[in-house]
Amino acid sequence: MKITNILSLFDGISCGRVALDRIGIEYENYYASEIDKYAIKIAQSNFPDTIQLGDVKNWKEWNLPQIDLLMGGSPCQGFSITGKQLNFEDPRSKLFFEFVDILNYYKPKYFLLENVRMKQEYQDIISNYLGVQPIKINSALVSAQNRNRLYWTNIPNISQPLDKGIILKDVLDGDESIENFINYFDIMKPVNSKSNRVGIIGKGGQGDRIYTTDKKSVTLMAESGGRGAKTGLYLTGEKTVRMLMPNECERLQNLPDNYTEGVSKAQRYKMLGNGWTVDVITHILNNIK
Ligand SMILES: C[S@@+](CC[C@H](N)C(=O)[O-])C[C@H]1O[C@@H](n2cnc3c(N)ncnc32)[C@H](O)[C@@H]1O
Repeated sequence: MKITNILSLFDGISCGRVALDRIGIEYENYYASEIDKYAIKIAQSNFPDTIQLGDVKNWKEWNLPQIDLLMGGSPCQGFSITGKQLNFEDPRSKLFFEFVDILNYYKPKYFLLENVRMKQEYQDIISNYLGVQPIKINSALVSAQNRNRLYWTNIPNISQPLDKGIILKDVLDGDESIENFINYFDIMKPVNSKSNRVGIIGKGGQGDRIYTTDKKSVTLMAESGGRGAKTGLYLTGEKTVRMLMPNECERLQNLPDNYTEGVSKAQRYKMLGNGWTVDVITHILNNIK
């Protein structure tokens, strides 16, 4: 199948484009719709020829040629089981309907929509609009990160990726090579748990839980608080408890090191928490070759 034009909605830092390049799919134009200036900066610094279209709500003004592949992960806060369950009334999740309108208008040969796990009734609404059931894939199969996501696509024959057996320890930098991190070891309270949790700080709220590096990381998040905030806290050395560094988060999303360099650390964490795990996308897009 010859792919000429790709339209990536909610493009973020273009993780989908990294996947396309990794597979070696050739195309002529990569159109991206994104409104976050930091994400656009990272997309453009990695792929200067990206054609940025701005706000998806203005899609009727775009006037694009035939689109062969439409992909996107619409903002998920309204659907998320960790969010407030605001569902389709949340203005962010309403953007899903822009995806549907664009799909119906351009009728691309292939589409891919990614989203978080959500209540079955919301999932069914999306499936009804798209005419396909989602496949659930955990990024843990291809990286050291637990990240369960749903993928709706008409690309045929998507199976589960093979388990690469990577654990967090495999992708971490040695503590001694990292500058300026806060070590929470002295205030850690150990916990005995069969899960990957080894300790807590304070009351052990979500961002204050400490995990082992012998298993997978927790899911990187764009918006979450606590001392481990968007990455979680890990017992990385005998006496070290710390957050993950941006480079380490890039590895958890199968991105090249320093891919998100050029903006503040806080922005890097946010965008990486929003991003796609590249090798899950590679696995799916491989079937259009
Ligand atoms: C879940 S993230 C998608 C990240 C992307 N898949 C990646 O690989 O980086 C959703 C993105 O939608 C963007 N967004 C929110 N409202 C938008 C709008 N009205 N038009 C275009 N993009 C929007 C956000 O800025 C955010 O980057």
